[in-house]
Amino acid sequence: MDLIIKNGTLVDNNGCYQANLAIAEGKIKAIFLGNKYFQAEQIIDASKKMVFPGVVDPHVHFQLQDLGRIISTDTFASGTQAAACGGVTTIIDFADQTRGKSPLKGFYERKKDADSQVAIDYSLHVSKTDTEFLDEIPTLISEGVTSFKFFTTYSWRNLNLNDAELLKLFKEVKKCRGMVMGHCENDSMIINYRNELIHEGKIDPIFHAYSRPHIVEEEAIQKVLLFAKKTGVHLHIAHITTKEGSELLHKAKRQDSIVTGETCPHYLLLNEGDYKGSEGYLNLMSPPLRHTKDQQALINRVTDNTIDFISTDHCEFSRASKGNGNLPFHQVLNGIPGIETSLSLMHDLLINKYKITYPHLVTLMSSAPAKIFGLYPQKGSLMVGTDADLVIFDPLLEKRIRPETLHYSIDWNPYTDMKVIGWPIMTLLRGHILCEDGDFVGPPNEGKFLKRSHKTQFER
Ligand code: URP
Ligand code: ZN
Repeated sequence: MDLIIKNGTLVDNNGCYQANLAIAEGKIKAIFLGNKYFQAEQIIDASKKMVFPGVVDPHVHFQLQDLGRIISTDTFASGTQAAACGGVTTIIDFADQTRGKSPLKGFYERKKDADSQVAIDYSLHVSKTDTEFLDEIPTLISEGVTSFKFFTTYSWRNLNLNDAELLKLFKEVKKCRGMVMGHCENDSMIINYRNELIHEGKIDPIFHAYSRPHIVEEEAIQKVLLFAKKTGVHLHIAHITTKEGSELLHKAKRQDSIVTGETCPHYLLLNEGDYKGSEGYLNLMSPPLRHTKDQQALINRVTDNTIDFISTDHCEFSRASKGNGNLPFHQVLNGIPGIETSLSLMHDLLINKYKITYPHLVTLMSSAPAKIFGLYPQKGSLMVGTDADLVIFDPLLEKRIRPETLHYSIDWNPYTDMKVIGWPIMTLLRGHILCEDGDFVGPPNEGKFLKRSHKTQFER
């Protein structure tokens, strides 16, 4: 064997148990008690530690581009190394179609950008911004891209699809046995609220939230749920932020729809109050932060299994690229970092405070996204024969989140000074140690593109 991890508490989506784990050629070769396989090149003692499957974060924006120019602060290299230090071993990023251009070509270009840089395994969703090139969907699926993102807003960035286009996309994706994934906010309402606020001189960060009130999300989710029901496509709702949105997901799951949903750590841990003060502009993202009652409603819908998983929507910008606090809310670039802290924050919130089980935490962070996006059991499981992507997690290690001890390219963090109990102390990708005691120590570009299966558990 290449490596044995002994004496750890193994946790997967089905349970927790004490066992040893043997790794060879990048795969889990045995899970065993006793000392049967104790001849190995390296032995790691994981006594008093938990061993999870690596985190799968299926909603990430590294080196985000706008009109062909990189606007976010990180690269695929720096972003995936930070991710590894947070216990993440798989991401799904986006190949955003430029309207009028081939999404297949866009996918090949984005893949080329990522391939030489990634420290962890990755896949891509394709974002569809028009209904041209629908004939490329089968080729994209055969290339392993089985999920198609759509936006109901961002008309000012040429990203949105209108209702007829949404229906057309849903029908085509259903026919090809793919799935759709939606950023759901009503476009004309945002534009109207935004113009009114600007006209009244209300340009501070808090007005970003006022320009996108709850109805903006509720209307858009309601509409796309209807379209999904009529077409039968699997709809995944990205970053749900409101009580109303989570209730719509709950209701749809009890009807004849194939629907899944995610939320992000920031919607559980932060609220509108975080737009106040001199650093409030840094926390601008879309959809915006909400009220404390929404935080609690979302936590309830995470703990009762309505919300399927936690993603981060990680999108990293420097203070300068966010305008140093000198811009009106509608000109501040949207997005916050999150990938390196998500496992620890969710462990602290959901295990330490809300007492969910460890298998549920692993489901939320790893197994459910892997299943929904066609990567399970290669990713998101601890089964013999699957990739040895692992996090060794110390559930008692206390940390205070500080930007200087994280691995991002920026000097701020939305959770600065927050204390958490529980932190990953080692991350392995296919048996290679990538991160140890807070340092990235692994090969910088051993990550591989993952072709995803379109046969998810949700197929009917
Ligand atoms: O505010 C968010 N969600 N930013 C992510 C990047 C984007 O443009 O969607
Ligand atoms: Zn996003």
